[in-house]
Amino acid sequence: MTTSKPGRIAVVGSNMVDLVTYITRMPAPGETVEAPEFEIGFGGKGANQAVAAAKLGSAVGMVTKVGSDIFGDNTLKNLADHGIDTRHAVKVAGRSSGVAPIFVDPSGENSILIVKGANADLSPADVDAAAEMLRAADLILMQMEIPPETVAHTVRRAAEWGVRTILNPAPATADLRVDDLRDLSFLVPNETELALLSGLPTGTEAEIEAAARSLIARGIGTVIVTLGGRGARLVTRERVVPIAPVRVTPVDTTGAGDAFIGSFAHFLAATGDVEGALGCAARYAAHSVTGRGTQKSYATAEAFDAFCRTLPQTA
Ligand code: RIB
Repeated sequence: MTTSKPGRIAVVGSNMVDLVTYITRMPAPGETVEAPEFEIGFGGKGANQAVAAAKLGSAVGMVTKVGSDIFGDNTLKNLADHGIDTRHAVKVAGRSSGVAPIFVDPSGENSILIVKGANADLSPADVDAAAEMLRAADLILMQMEIPPETVAHTVRRAAEWGVRTILNPAPATADLRVDDLRDLSFLVPNETELALLSGLPTGTEAEIEAAARSLIARGIGTVIVTLGGRGARLVTRERVVPIAPVRVTPVDTTGAGDAFIGSFAHFLAATGDVEGALGCAARYAAHSVTGRGTQKSYATAEAFDAFCRTLPQTA
């Protein structure tokens, strides 16, 4: 499923520099603990999703803001090195770039702090300035490391242009209003984000379905709930489809959600098949957790095909 015509993906979103410490355990308050390793990498949910789609072969453009520091220059170069259109990646004078101190434990689980920096300045006016690029896209991707009003504005404008939208409401924030998402095509929350947005419990399968349906009743097209090791659920007005998890031994789970969403956008734009695209995205995200870091753990189309050949055949 990686060989169809590549699509055009636009990302209105964040970029960060990830400061990743591999730890044996978190220090208690007031305690100092030595950690074995440290790495710097390119991250940010928006940039991660953009890079995943670009590595798979989509034509990708990004609307984003970096600071006037060395991280900003390096981030712009990194996006360009991945073939991403950076005409609307803007450097903000006097601002720091976004940074994310990340701690990864021996089981591969992560804890993340984010400092938004210039990402907090991405405005509805920046979206309008990029209208020509955005309206030519097959899909526009967004996350919540930029201001909620910019997300809401993008959803509205995209609906006017007839361009489908995907929102990953991460990190979870109470600032996002469901009424602003009435024109959204795909919402991709985890259970926590779904609970926050719907105001409903998400502890059981039945509750997850009811919470997703409540958002669909308020105008959102389709809800895809990510459930970590339990796979995902595609919820539409008519049906709920389980997306099976792909079992691997994790090394570093950071950015797996972004791998899932960026690759979902790629496969959906290339094939038009939502369910098939989600199956591929589950495999792509599984591959990403077998390597360290975020963007550098994402497979190219060729590496992804090779990984898929190692998996047990299901149907
Ligand atoms: O989703 C993972 C990402 O979250 C990291 O790359 C970090 O930058 C934060 O944005």
